[in-house]
Amino acid sequence: MNRYAVRAATIDDVVSIDGILQTQIEKGKLLPRTLPELFENVRDFFVVESKNEVVACGALQIFTSELGEIRSLAVSNKYEGQGFGRALVEKLIAESRKIGLHKLMALTYVPVFFHRLGFETVDRDILPEKVWGVCVYCPHYHNCNEIAVLKRL
Ligand SMILES: CC(C)(COP(=O)(O)OP(=O)(O)OC[C@H]1O[C@@H](n2cnc3c(N)ncnc32)[C@H](O)[C@@H]1OP(=O)(O)O)[C@@H](O)C(=O)NCCC(=O)NCCS
Repeated sequence: MNRYAVRAATIDDVVSIDGILQTQIEKGKLLPRTLPELFENVRDFFVVESKNEVVACGALQIFTSELGEIRSLAVSNKYEGQGFGRALVEKLIAESRKIGLHKLMALTYVPVFFHRLGFETVDRDILPEKVWGVCVYCPHYHNCNEIAVLKRL
């Protein structure tokens, strides 16, 4: 892996973030997020920058005083498998601890990646904040095949 930095996103990163997400959305690996939504939530995002290029992105969304969620985690196609996803999740874990969250969750098609980072697979019904606050509005609610993973901080 080349030299890289994990840092909070800025407005100037939004187009790059959108590009990375769209590629993975088209492959069916992430649920869609619109460009206006990304601008609105840019303060939640962190990016990995390598050689002046944004190569990965991910967001920390806060649900309650206890619980946060990793959202829109994606590594640019050609940089997958080089440790950037791990670096980003480690940053999101550190940020979650820094602001005092006790639990961090994700809904994912790649639970094994999260297991490597100390998350465990859980029944999504133990996360009512997410299920009742967000999932019920999702078109995939009744046939969701994402897996819930959770890390206690
Ligand atoms: C999943 C994703 C974020 C992983 O990022 P990455 O940079 O490729 O992964 P890393 O190189 O940091 O891998 C870290 C560890 O997870 C493992 N891993 C990564 N992707 C994996 C996968 N698809 N299946 C199983 N294990 C995986 C790696 O082997 C590595 O294991 P190690 O601890 O033994 O070294 C990236 O592949 C991606 O963007 N995928 C498409 C979008 C997506 O699924 N996002 C997650 C939504 S929550």
